[in-house]
Amino acid sequence: MIPARLKFSGKDLKVLDQRLLPDRIHYLTARNAKDTAAAIKDMALRGAPLIGCAAADGFALEMRRLKPSSADELMLAAVRTADLLKAARPTAVALFYAADRMLETARAFAAANPGKFAPATRARFQKLIEKEARLVTSEDEAACLAMGEFGARLLPKRCVIMTHCNAGALATMGIGTAVGVITAAHKKGKIKHAYSCETRPYLQGARLTIWELMREGVPSELLTDNMAAHIIKTCGVNAIVVGADRIAANGDTANKIGTYGLAVIARYHKVPFYVAAPTPTIDLKARDGDAIVIEERSCEEVTFVKGQRIAPKKVRVRHPAFDVTPAGLITAIITERGVIAPVSRAAVKKHLA
Ligand code: MRU
Repeated sequence: MIPARLKFSGKDLKVLDQRLLPDRIHYLTARNAKDTAAAIKDMALRGAPLIGCAAADGFALEMRRLKPSSADELMLAAVRTADLLKAARPTAVALFYAADRMLETARAFAAANPGKFAPATRARFQKLIEKEARLVTSEDEAACLAMGEFGARLLPKRCVIMTHCNAGALATMGIGTAVGVITAAHKKGKIKHAYSCETRPYLQGARLTIWELMREGVPSELLTDNMAAHIIKTCGVNAIVVGADRIAANGDTANKIGTYGLAVIARYHKVPFYVAAPTPTIDLKARDGDAIVIEERSCEEVTFVKGQRIAPKKVRVRHPAFDVTPAGLITAIITERGVIAPVSRAAVKKHLA
């Protein structure tokens, strides 16, 4: 079992601090939207769907703290809270989806309850907003299970599979997206072997994914990222599955840096390349991958490993945290609704209709 990632009590949110994994299981406490945004920004929690679930919880906590006493006050607080949460990280659209969904719930309540709020009205609002936050989480859990089923069906028997970054239970409130496909297929006896790329510079594959695969009993090995091409060529890899932070309307997919390179290698070796992501990851406002904002993170995450400097002082560094895989390199996108294949603007549109 993977430890609970988020524990929402109504009064606070306990966040499993993923920066300490796999060595320590430690929870930090978020009491409001600011704490929640900080936990997202500082990577105490990460992974697109989990960021969305946390944002919904953080929104609910902030509403409880602010206790708006009129519809106008509520709207002011709701807009500010959504903006604060959305500023935490720029690429994963799940964050924007969840914050906007909570904002819309607040907006609808304010429109239906104009003027001053009686204590009972305030209580009704808080109940409603917490219910919406719970829905964001339960929908994510259900989506993960469905993706696991659809994805497992696509894989051949005795599948040798590779994944990148962490799109596992630790990145969601359910069994994970890409790793959920692997563990679901493993339960059906379909996985011969799984490879996890370590995912420089933040090492989500080495710290989190391989830990999850080991805990789930999946036969697996860890690779450094630069071993991927060699292993694909020589070890019979017959599927690659990754998660996504944002999928544009034409199917171009932003995911952890290194995903694009893996997709190019997969195409060269004729290995199917799958993306597993719930439908809120699809951003129809992004016409194609060029419209997706790529987060640039700190140089220290590249030049230091566990507090140890590994490059010269004052070195100039780049750290784009994500890249975009063109739709043409993706064999299929697996969502909770089914499979998009081949991937095209029309197919994405039809899938969401
Ligand atoms: O920077 P991170 O760790 O939040 O990046 C995570 C990823 O890129 C995942 O692959 C993606 O969010 C999908 S998670 C189901």
